[in-house]
Amino acid sequence: MTADQEKKQAALEAVKYIKNNMVVGLGTGSTAKHMIEAVGQMVAEGVNLTCVPSSDATEKLAKELGIKIVELHEVDHIDVTIDGADEFDGDFQLIKGGGGALLREKILAWNTKFNIIIADSSKDVKKLGAFKLPVEVIPFATKQIKTYLEAEGLKPVQRMKEGNEYRTDENNNILDIDIFEVDDLQELEIKLLKIPGVVETGLFLDSTSLIIVGKEGGSEIKE
Ligand code: 5RP
Repeated sequence: MTADQEKKQAALEAVKYIKNNMVVGLGTGSTAKHMIEAVGQMVAEGVNLTCVPSSDATEKLAKELGIKIVELHEVDHIDVTIDGADEFDGDFQLIKGGGGALLREKILAWNTKFNIIIADSSKDVKKLGAFKLPVEVIPFATKQIKTYLEAEGLKPVQRMKEGNEYRTDENNNILDIDIFEVDDLQELEIKLLKIPGVVETGLFLDSTSLIIVGKEGGSEIKE
């Protein structure tokens, strides 16, 4: 089974948790894309859903598929959000933000009753950190924050796109940092969020309700 087949299988399993009249948070990325297509199929078959997207790209795809999209302030909660991850460990801790949508994804997760993560088997790790942790920062402070994180041994690399500095949907920069040697992730999260100009990190430490991993012979559901 290819990684993309695993992603699709996890996505198809996850949409079974979506029921008529729910408010659904839509994640971002190649795994979430399969889920959004499946949600589009459900809507086409008559299921009534209201969806909140986690990125401009997700919003565009959802609208193309005829999915009803609203802004977060138009709903008082989200019933279920389905999103991908770059890595997850046995304690349901995640690194997200490889696709740059970490800020809105984290806001959706915080406002959601039941968060489902869908992934291919390569995302399942013993220890987080082989994937670099995205940290979203305000451009005004990017250079100073990078210098500080270098001194802390976190080896920040400013994300680039086509030769230019990468900008998120919120027009911020991303610094990808190396956290593999860090043991206390709660402490790291607090430390990073204390830095003026850091908007959000891609550490999702306690928001996940269920993880669905696409695998040969059926999906593995971790709860
Ligand atoms: C985007 C994300 C994605 O969920 C994460 O990068 C996984 O992406 P993919 O499903 O393409 O592997 O956090 O900000």
